[in-house]
Amino acid sequence: MKRPDDGSDSITIILVDDIQDARDGIQRLLSFEQDFKVVGTAENGRQGVALVQELQPDIVIMDINMPDMDGLEAASRITKALPFVGVIMMSVQDDSDYMQRAMLAGARFFLSKPPSTDQLYGTIRNVYEQYAPIRERFRRMNDPSAMLMDPADEKRPDDGTRAGHVIVVYSPAGGTGCTTIATNLASGLMKEDIKTLVVDADLEFGDVGTFLDLRSQSTISELADKTDDLDAEYFDSVVATHNSGIRVLLSPSLPNVGADIRELNPDAVSAIIEQIRYYYDFVVVDTSHNIDAVVAGLLELATKIVVVVTPTLPAIKNVKLVLDLLEKSNVNKEKVALVVNKAIENPSRHQRAHPTPDRISNYLKMDVTASIPLTDEYFILNAINKGVPVIAMRDPNKPIVKRLLELSDTLYGSMMGTLVEDQETEKSKERRGLFSFGKS
Ligand SMILES: Nc1ncnc2c1ncn2[C@@H]1O[C@H](COP(=O)(O)OP(=O)(O)O)[C@@H](O)[C@H]1O
Ligand SMILES: [Mg+2]
Repeated sequence: MKRPDDGSDSITIILVDDIQDARDGIQRLLSFEQDFKVVGTAENGRQGVALVQELQPDIVIMDINMPDMDGLEAASRITKALPFVGVIMMSVQDDSDYMQRAMLAGARFFLSKPPSTDQLYGTIRNVYEQYAPIRERFRRMNDPSAMLMDPADEKRPDDGTRAGHVIVVYSPAGGTGCTTIATNLASGLMKEDIKTLVVDADLEFGDVGTFLDLRSQSTISELADKTDDLDAEYFDSVVATHNSGIRVLLSPSLPNVGADIRELNPDAVSAIIEQIRYYYDFVVVDTSHNIDAVVAGLLELATKIVVVVTPTLPAIKNVKLVLDLLEKSNVNKEKVALVVNKAIENPSRHQRAHPTPDRISNYLKMDVTASIPLTDEYFILNAINKGVPVIAMRDPNKPIVKRLLELSDTLYGSMMGTLVEDQETEKSKERRGLFSFGKS
């Protein structure tokens, strides 16, 4: 079977469209360029999914309206089973409702039908390039076919046997973008039949409710005294559900309630997560900015720690201290992902000393997993006002949207193939390292 990124230079493509003329037209356009190679065509979604599973192309160009499994359903199955395959949706519909459904189905890229030659070539090359890191990770995984799910599979049951990855988003400074990143990450990790929970562990000044417009729901304070024996059904009754399907455990709406929980039982949040994590594939945790006992417990529990830094000297210096602390506590380097937010990648000449993501990476001696560009605040505010993550806004070509999606896909790719159990053994070794401070 062909592996993702088998080293050959051409971009392998599968076309799925029920109209033969449409397939032929695109195939002809693609044949003019050396780097494209159409490895298969299918005439409906079902055939398309089967062919994509068999051939594992780099790119799928997918019509939306088709008999026998439409393009949205097919795209969702493909992105769920093979996250390293870039799916480009193609449709005559100029309908934003369609676009949103397509994005929720996991599609990130769109072509109008029929596409112009430039659009077609540009989009394919762009998507191919964006998926490079994900393909690379999957190539390095021993057996990519282990990821395959049979599309005929029933939905997985909710019996606490999901992946249970815990992603903790942390920054030592406020205003860095932790909440922005946590909510968007959760949204980007939502694929069909992937269950994602956001936990707002900023007990006193949690903002997740504001970002997702979930103000009036019940909160973690209802669970604070039930951390020893938490019933999954009861938990379900406390979490809020965003209309995108993300579940959210909100922080208390009054700061003093949060302070009380923190004082009485700093392990409450970790204990809750321990008990319900396997009912979810991903638990994304937004944190406060002090390394207090709550955060320490969460860092210990995490299967992935996303450390967020902005390009200012104090922020970088403080993140360095945090990275040193993690290292001293024997946290596996692989577990830490550095994200530069509000990044300016190409500073103008009078900003020559600006700490670009490259410089930050050099200074911190660590790869930057993603850099999220500084964006006009209006775009983010607009999303917040609508109560949706930025990436659910209908602008897949906006750089911030692209980067947040890439970050989600990279983390998805790096985590879904690994079992939490594998990391568990290693975790017990790490346990009670430096992080045990403040917990005795
Ligand atoms: N990439 C970005 N570009 C511009 N503004 C951003 C970006 N990321 C976040 N912001 C804004 O910065 C502010 C702080 O973000 P937030 O996610 O609340 O940070 P934190 O949770 O770390 O305190 C918010 O007003 C948010 O809209
Ligand atoms: Mg916040």
